[in-house]
Amino acid sequence: MKNASVGVGMAQISDLPYSSGGILSHLNNKNHRLFFFDEISSTNSYCKDTESIVSGDVVIAKTQSQGRGRIGRSFLSGEGGIFMSYLPNEKITGDMLLSVTGVCGVAVCLAIEECIGVSPDIKWMNDVLVDGKKICGILTEAVFSGEETPDKIIVGIGINANQRRNSFGDELSEIATSLYEVTGKEIDLNLLVATVIRQLDKAFTALNSKKIEKYLAEYRGRCVTIGKRINVIMGEFCQEASALSVDDTFGLTVKFEDGTVETVRSGEATIRGIGGSYN
Ligand code: BTN
Repeated sequence: MKNASVGVGMAQISDLPYSSGGILSHLNNKNHRLFFFDEISSTNSYCKDTESIVSGDVVIAKTQSQGRGRIGRSFLSGEGGIFMSYLPNEKITGDMLLSVTGVCGVAVCLAIEECIGVSPDIKWMNDVLVDGKKICGILTEAVFSGEETPDKIIVGIGINANQRRNSFGDELSEIATSLYEVTGKEIDLNLLVATVIRQLDKAFTALNSKKIEKYLAEYRGRCVTIGKRINVIMGEFCQEASALSVDDTFGLTVKFEDGTVETVRSGEATIRGIGGSYN
């Protein structure tokens, strides 16, 4: 790990390089401590393993050597991307946990829309897509010492921002893209990270006060999985189904070939005939 810099509060200077000061210059609250690294193994692992990282902290890195995705996959984490882990200030109880990933997916979409002007879709559970290709992945992890309420909630977000097409390689380019490739413009990483933080703050306030109707409506409106033929994959289990709807805690209700209707809350739903699964 190299060059950690810490920032709290508001920086005054504009046009700063990608840094904690640059991010803070776009935030007008002091609710977060930012920890910025040039290089780290994984921002999520760092948050999990470091006792002094607590609620309200945000860890950001320019690159990750061991970026982690969902279901034990790795996450490509080269220069130009955004790799951040956000710990909400709000206390999240066990009953809210199911909805964390859903509201965060919507928060990232709203941040991208606000900052870049493109309107992303969501592939259940939490792939953020633009033009049918993955632009962002979210890995939410909880650290428990007791039974119900987690000690830490870590929302890990990886956004393909300024990476060029050739950094993905041929295979990945089929299913992933970056905001730069979509818009043809260099993305202001300081502004985008700050906007993501602001949108996550709003999402957790809504979740904490159990007012997530707006987030459910946004999620359902953006979810490209609904109405599609999918493969439901959970460990060794893989079965064809039709995706019917998203329930009130962001579970995916599906109908299997034998007519059974179930709501899936973990695992993966790959859309048949579209892309593949990328992390
Ligand atoms: C996925 O698409 O499977 C989730 C990818 C999550 C990647 C982010 S990058 C920042 C944080 N640190 C990690 O090691 N992973 C998450």
